[in-house]
Amino acid sequence: MWTHPPAQPPSPVPDFLYGTAWKEDRTPALTELALRMGFRGIDTANQRRHYFEEGVGQGLAAAYRAGLVTRADLFLQTKFTYRPGQDHRLPYDPAASLSVQVAQSLASSLDHLATGYVDSYVLHGPSSNHDWTAADNEVWEAMQKERDAGRTRLLGVSNVSLRHLQQMAAARTKLPAIVQNRCYARLGWDRAVRLFCRERKIIYQGFSLLTANREVLHHPLIARLAANANATPAQIVFNFARTVGILPLTGTSNREHMKQDLASRDLTLPLDAVQAIESLAG
Ligand SMILES: NC(=O)c1ccc[n+]([C@@H]2O[C@H](COP(=O)([O-])OP(=O)(O)OC[C@H]3O[C@@H](n4cnc5c(N)ncnc54)[C@H](OP(=O)(O)O)[C@@H]3O)[C@@H](O)[C@H]2O)c1
Repeated sequence: MWTHPPAQPPSPVPDFLYGTAWKEDRTPALTELALRMGFRGIDTANQRRHYFEEGVGQGLAAAYRAGLVTRADLFLQTKFTYRPGQDHRLPYDPAASLSVQVAQSLASSLDHLATGYVDSYVLHGPSSNHDWTAADNEVWEAMQKERDAGRTRLLGVSNVSLRHLQQMAAARTKLPAIVQNRCYARLGWDRAVRLFCRERKIIYQGFSLLTANREVLHHPLIARLAANANATPAQIVFNFARTVGILPLTGTSNREHMKQDLASRDLTLPLDAVQAIESLAG
């Protein structure tokens, strides 16, 4: 049975998100395992090319059946992906207008996840790398209608530059509640976008914290901090991320890494170490 938005205040955004990209047939089991290990935030997308959203729904159903969690315990986030980001397995009619595509894609997501609402609905990426376009405005307005209808609590944008966000602000477009970006250490961990978000109380979610920053994981500073804290370099990076206001995503397929990623929340890094990591590479 589909669940509807809670009457009481919904649970806040969790402090770690489990990402479900690239898991294919393992998606249901890994989603269930992530919930079993303690994750309460799940990130997916209605983009069959990289995600198996229906499989996420199967994992959720298994977790509900096992009594691990209820829908109200979870923060479910999914995305609308433009046609160029998709393969042939589309969640909408490509001949329909963009507004209709948004409605169709979200209806399909709610079906996949067997829920009446998601906690966050994210535009996977603007239509142009350079500018926030009229197409993005149409999609964004359609997403706001979905929120007003109660089918998502929050709205977000992903893979955005500072320029995109500034253009939204300059056009007095309603700003997102969430930004989800790839975090390169060599760009000061997306410093410019993070600062924009911090000033406007936008939740900044960071992905590829490990995979985009292999050199950081092998840096002597990180190795020393890890040894001092009896932690792994990955745990240092995740703890650093949270300390500077990044809500981290992990897509690990490994049970032990799930445990370690969540346990990184319990570390405390010295302030000078946090500052040093922030400007380690950029
Ligand atoms: N908006 C977008 O365009 C976009 C793009 C990419 C990703 N995402 C989201 O972000 C999620 C995460 O993606 P990601 O790019 O950050 O990469 P990822 O898929 O999370 O990959 C992380 C890598 O780090 C390893 N790892 C994780 N925890 C570790 C630990 N404690 N110790 C050592 N290795 C560890 C994993 O290996 P093991 O599996 O062996 O642990 C894996 O190879 C995705 O699933 C997706 O939901 C969004």
